[in-house]
Amino acid sequence: MYISSSLLTAALLLVSRVSCVPVDTSHEQLALGQEHLPIETETSEAPLLVDDDYPSFTIPSRYESTVLGRRLLALSKTGVLTTVFPKSINSSRVPEDVAHTPIGLPDYIAACEEPTGNPTLLALTVSTSTKNALAGSNVSLALSWWDEYVHITHKQPWSAANLPRLSMTGYLEEMTDEEISNGGIAACFTKVHEDSVMWLPGKKWAAHKGLWMRLVVREVYWIGGFGDRAYIGWFDPEEWQSVKVDEWSEVRLPGEK
Ligand SMILES: *[C@@H]1O[C@H](CO)[C@@H](O)[C@H](O)[C@H]1NC(C)=O
Ligand SMILES: *[C@@H]1O[C@H](CO)[C@@H](O)[C@H](O)[C@H]1NC(C)=O
Repeated sequence: MYISSSLLTAALLLVSRVSCVPVDTSHEQLALGQEHLPIETETSEAPLLVDDDYPSFTIPSRYESTVLGRRLLALSKTGVLTTVFPKSINSSRVPEDVAHTPIGLPDYIAACEEPTGNPTLLALTVSTSTKNALAGSNVSLALSWWDEYVHITHKQPWSAANLPRLSMTGYLEEMTDEEISNGGIAACFTKVHEDSVMWLPGKKWAAHKGLWMRLVVREVYWIGGFGDRAYIGWFDPEEWQSVKVDEWSEVRLPGEK
């Protein structure tokens, strides 16, 4: 990781005179090395080392991070869906030694049931994830801001580890016909994924049988970036569900205008 030698020297000089911000090392930390820790001077709260994406070191609260997480969900078109294979494998096409083992596979998602905070999936019955879920597996869905950051800024982040990501855990639930039509699920999903018309559930031209599913989110684990400047930890499920569209519409993820 790059740090200019003059900044490093300045930081080291200051370290001898002032105290560093205390850093909680009791849980998972993705903090920078010691020389990168924000350093407060006696006369000013201004940190010495600032990056473009986080112009201030005010660590967002859990609730502020929850709103950012809901925006990340709303803007994400894909995620990595993880399911667990059943205890015993019956299919000749699946190796026996994957039994009881998680498998993460990238999948299409869309936030078609806002403001619930439950992602929408078009689950093809031929897919491994769907088979595992229908066999009773819980699921998790991981999202990151990595690709979208590069897409919107046309540059690589100075550190991808400092960009937000999360994992939602819960289970898949099939939507009822009423929920699908009242919620305009097909129109919403095909707006995000135009090619998904090829698999629309209930259509006789569909290449594969599909089901409209929601991931019922039980818990959300968030890594907002480095632990010395971002919230890292579990969200409160009730807060996750209560965030309104207006709230996540007003916040910005790193690199957004
Ligand atoms: C596997 O096959 C056996 C015997 O055919 C059956 O009893 C069992 O329920 C099957 N297990 C699964 C997970 O489908
Ligand atoms: C799924 O998660 C729930 C809640 O944590 C748990 O009670 C249940 O046993 C899990 N199901 C499986 C198949 O592991």
